[in-house]
Amino acid sequence: MSEINTALSVEDLSVVYRTQGVDIAALKDITFNVNDGEIFGIIGESGSGKSTLAKAILRNIKPPGFITGEPRIFCYGRNIISMSQREFREKILWQLISYVPQSSLNSLNGTMRIIDHFYDTATSHGISKEKIREKALELLKMVRLEPEKVAVMYPHQLSGGMRQRVLIALSLLLNPKLVIMDEAVSALDVATQKHILDIIKDLNKSMGITVIFITHDIAIAAYLTHTIMVLYAGEIMEIGKTERIIKSPYHPYSVSLMSSVPSIRGSLEGVRVVKEGYPSRVGCPFNTRCEYTSDICFKNHPELYEINSDYVRCFNYATNKPKGS
Ligand SMILES: Nc1ncnc2c1ncn2[C@@H]1O[C@H](COP(=O)(O)OP(=O)(O)OP(=O)(O)O)[C@@H](O)[C@H]1O
Ligand SMILES: [Mg+2]
Repeated sequence: MSEINTALSVEDLSVVYRTQGVDIAALKDITFNVNDGEIFGIIGESGSGKSTLAKAILRNIKPPGFITGEPRIFCYGRNIISMSQREFREKILWQLISYVPQSSLNSLNGTMRIIDHFYDTATSHGISKEKIREKALELLKMVRLEPEKVAVMYPHQLSGGMRQRVLIALSLLLNPKLVIMDEAVSALDVATQKHILDIIKDLNKSMGITVIFITHDIAIAAYLTHTIMVLYAGEIMEIGKTERIIKSPYHPYSVSLMSSVPSIRGSLEGVRVVKEGYPSRVGCPFNTRCEYTSDICFKNHPELYEINSDYVRCFNYATNKPKGS
């Protein structure tokens, strides 16, 4: 059972995608906590499992994907994985946890005006249009859109960046305590990015909203987050306070990510950040690309070792205590 100051606790979460009889393990035994009131960053290169993790928390893994084993996921003490889909949609989604999805075009209904998306979300939770209109316009204004004008427009009339901002506004409509944002600012220009990041910081500080922020961009993670979790090939490689991870990362993968970004300004997207290679199926998943391997890295799979309340999955730290022991 999670503690009171824990916004989210995820334990032993594994997800597999089965295509043409072949299983791809997209997430392997993911276990982590997000503290109430923090901005928790999830970073990792494309395919590392970031969106799959968001979808699993949001009860939105669809075939050919499925959850394996018996994970436990608690959000503010509520067991959100064992409740029915219906209960999750009626009582948890939007009100306790909301999200900003990665793809803004697929997430809005092309036949509905922008304001109708707000009405739809509100009325499906028993709140009247009249009650929500002012709040919707306020939120649109907050994300730097002209509220009255944008409200009556259709999604295709907006740029990708504008749609992304609509989704951020929409995610806040029912005052959630936790918002999961998947690449929420990636489609925006740098000035708007900065503005939105500052709004997120402000929401976090003044209203205490907890944020899980998924990004390719280390500079954004450095600017915004309190804690960072590094994913590689569906596994947690490192979890730690942002300041420490940026300054002195423990895992060789994190080290190469940080050193590949001159003065922490850059993106992982499309950047050859580390030595080329595919994740290994035997031993450490990073052994094909790591500069610091020894024999054990090719034979055994490393645990997540604890160092000063942070975690790293690397045999170079094997003298430390494995997590949970
Ligand atoms: N619907 C699907 N069917 C089959 N495989 C999938 C599906 N969705 C994701 N995967 C696989 O699961 C793994 C993790 O994908 P995921 O989209 O979670 O990564 P990501 O870290 O969000 O990547 P990106 O940074 O590109 O958004 C990848 O190997 C991907 O190919
Ligand atoms: Mg993704």
